[in-house]
Amino acid sequence: MPSPMVSPPTTSPPATSSRRVASSFVLGLACRRCSRAEEMDLAYVCRACFGPLEVVYDYARIAATIDRESIGSRPPGIWRYRELLPLHDLPTKGLTVGSTPLVCADRLAPTLGLDRLWIKDDTRNPSLSFKDRPVAIAAARAHAWQLAALACASTGNLAGATALAAAVLGMPAYVFVPADLEPAKLHQAVAFGATVVPLQGTYDDVNRVCIELADETGWGFVNINLRPFYAEGSRTLAFEIAEQLGWRSPDVVVAPIASGALFTKLGRGFDELAAVGLIERKAIRFVGGQAEGCAPVANACDHGTEAVTPVKEPDTFVRSLAIGSPADGAHAVRLAMATGGSVEAVSDIETARAIRAVAGLEGIYPETAGGVTLAAAAAARRRGVIHDGDEVVALLTGNGLKTPDAVNLGQTGRRVRPGEPGLAAALPASFGPVATWLEGGT
Ligand SMILES: Cc1ncc(COP(=O)(O)O)c(C=O)c1O
Ligand SMILES: [Zn+2]
Repeated sequence: MPSPMVSPPTTSPPATSSRRVASSFVLGLACRRCSRAEEMDLAYVCRACFGPLEVVYDYARIAATIDRESIGSRPPGIWRYRELLPLHDLPTKGLTVGSTPLVCADRLAPTLGLDRLWIKDDTRNPSLSFKDRPVAIAAARAHAWQLAALACASTGNLAGATALAAAVLGMPAYVFVPADLEPAKLHQAVAFGATVVPLQGTYDDVNRVCIELADETGWGFVNINLRPFYAEGSRTLAFEIAEQLGWRSPDVVVAPIASGALFTKLGRGFDELAAVGLIERKAIRFVGGQAEGCAPVANACDHGTEAVTPVKEPDTFVRSLAIGSPADGAHAVRLAMATGGSVEAVSDIETARAIRAVAGLEGIYPETAGGVTLAAAAAARRRGVIHDGDEVVALLTGNGLKTPDAVNLGQTGRRVRPGEPGLAAALPASFGPVATWLEGGT
């Protein structure tokens, strides 16, 4: 039954038959576990084995159609890789998503023990996180299928991305979030006009409610019934990194893990580029990062098993990654182990330190997931997963203004003196002389 907090829009979704996707590059959906084919629809689990459904492409046809030059001549944004995305027509509405900078982080690198480090700065998307990428695909599908509303179950960043995409497309939006979310993330979704519904519980509780709502309302929940399309969007990070490196792959990719969709789709994205001849196939080690207080994938990796034990009560300030029961957890373990990578669990103190380090040394201010990623890179280097001379790409996936409380962690609260980094004591409206203040007085 729909939640009493929301009254469903009256427009009903179109009949299944009108939802087909007629792209010459997409063959359909298939189960990742048993390979059973499914029609392109609001379907997201296999009817035979309940495995996740994924989009299947005609790589031979794509290889015969695109090359580096044609992609290079297109405007910035994720649609420059359109043959590798599950849409037939390019969306006519929507903000430019993607084509974010790949920054050479040579001041930060030595502090993490790394020789060569690039930062993929995805804090610069329209809603200030990488979630604009998966949402762009899911929202375009929902719009083309004339679904009555766009919705999501969110740990925070997805809320803003979904609300923004719906606003631009003129669709109603419903976002469901854990009630203890950072206020900045709530406010952002509210500003874009979404109905924001806090739920007293964890993200996994939110997700359960949303699965029921998706069934009953037919709304397009970007990360539930539109998940096969949504998940495809994160591959554009791999496409951009390869293109920005001059059509090649790095030695190591480091990314945060919540559900594991982003992490695993990075693996798939680089694979696909090799399959269609845009890069040479080369082994990449994939390193994931999780917060110690919610590290189901890192724990499984440590035990050498794909059986991921859910974390019932996440205990971390990294709320964006606080998914105790990750949908793609086993798949993430497999990618890390099969590539010689790892999944690292990092403390909140290390996360806060890493945020301050990258902001102070490179001028990029990431949210908590970014701090986790950089601390995970340092941890992977310490345990020998990252080697001397390796070229590493670390993904900073959200903007620090969304998690302003994080930078203070590990700070004593002491007001700093002139020249020290940190918050100085407030000054009276008129004071002086300035030289006295610079010497430590007021
Ligand atoms: C900033 C940020 N980075 C990374 C992730 C991880 O995404 P995924 O659920 O695909 O693992 C999230 C998830 O919400 C996020 O908000
Ligand atoms: Zn199956």
